[in-house]
Amino acid sequence: MNILYKTRNSIIHFFYVWALKPVLFLFDPEDIHNLFTKTGHFLGRFGITRWKTRMLFGYKNSRLTQEVLGIKFENPIGLSAGFDKDIMLTEIISDVGFGFEEVGSVTSRPYAGNPRPRLWRLTKSRSLGVWFGLKNQGVEVLSKKLAGKVHRLPIGVNVAFTNCKENLEISSAIPDYVAGAKVMEKYADYLTINLSCPNTSGGMPFLLPDNYEKLMVEIDKISTSKPIFVKINPDMTHAEIDKFLEISLRHRVRGIICSNLTKNYSDADKRDALPPHGGLSGKLVYPKALDLLSYMYKKARLPSPAGSANGGQVGNKFVFVFVGGVFSADDAYRAIRQGATLIQLITGMIFEGPQVISEINRGLVERMNRDGFKNISDVVGFDNKR
Ligand SMILES: Cc1cc2nc3c(=O)[nH]c(=O)nc-3n(C[C@H](O)[C@H](O)[C@H](O)COP(=O)(O)O)c2cc1C
Repeated sequence: MNILYKTRNSIIHFFYVWALKPVLFLFDPEDIHNLFTKTGHFLGRFGITRWKTRMLFGYKNSRLTQEVLGIKFENPIGLSAGFDKDIMLTEIISDVGFGFEEVGSVTSRPYAGNPRPRLWRLTKSRSLGVWFGLKNQGVEVLSKKLAGKVHRLPIGVNVAFTNCKENLEISSAIPDYVAGAKVMEKYADYLTINLSCPNTSGGMPFLLPDNYEKLMVEIDKISTSKPIFVKINPDMTHAEIDKFLEISLRHRVRGIICSNLTKNYSDADKRDALPPHGGLSGKLVYPKALDLLSYMYKKARLPSPAGSANGGQVGNKFVFVFVGGVFSADDAYRAIRQGATLIQLITGMIFEGPQVISEINRGLVERMNRDGFKNISDVVGFDNKR
């Protein structure tokens, strides 16, 4: 069976990289993105199209199944926030091979986004330049798309504050976050508080310790049983991470998503035209996010700071989700060995093709066989436990 999946994925990969991608990459990236989400939405509407999609892209192996914070994940690979902003794909993504999806970012009020162009390809750097600025239809419309549905896989909802002038004031941005989270928590398996969108007019104020503390005091008050995750920026220093973990320990944070887009353009390949603004995804994020993940996971080996809520260790409290430049099974396996329980991606799928999800899952099982692991949860943090 493994050889069949491997052959199928190689054929699709060859076709995507040599025939389809060169054509798609001739067109505006946002138009192609919209074409893909509309196509995915259509495929998700009918049993027959879902079945055909599954035949082309599906992959299952019980050794990839984990229960995390009470949620069952059939495999650890998820679609990251930002691809499905308008919640169009929840019906199809399990057939494409994903184990979960994070929708959003959603905000309490709709926002049309920054003016176009706001998405660029940096092909040599294997990265995307992103400057949407939290474009989304707002919680009133988006909550209806999730209401009353039973999903085939876990859905995380990523909540941010509305990108508008009033929210330049922290005192206005905090209730905005809380209002969005309160509406969406009912429909989510987990909630992500997005602290790190690099494209809002006020920057990333909630990465500053005092503001983060104030925000989390209010998030703690939301009446929900759903686990709260927070999403951080890959350009944070270790000293900033120390402070961030210390505050997170005092609050209801159960998961840390590492990480969002980088603002650091200096590592981009000189042959790529740099976007005029925005954050960068893909391979430019991978080393930074991996370093932060490993640093945070290793802190799990240290006693937690005095006064922390769990009274245990950092790693006993937090689940780590790795995201940034995962293009292959090797990329994902390395991050899991460093401490990630779950993986998310977007850019790898755009550069390598949609079969990359099942190819990563298949490759994870191959590597677990090689290294003698029974279940994917045995791999989590293995390199940092020794
Ligand atoms: C087109 C696009 C839109 C994005 N929008 C969001 C967003 O709304 N909220 C968010 O938390 N992250 C957003 N991101 C960041 C991704 O979720 C992810 O953290 C980042 O792209 C790194 O992963 P990747 O290299 O696999 O793409 C966006 C990324 C892309 C490429």
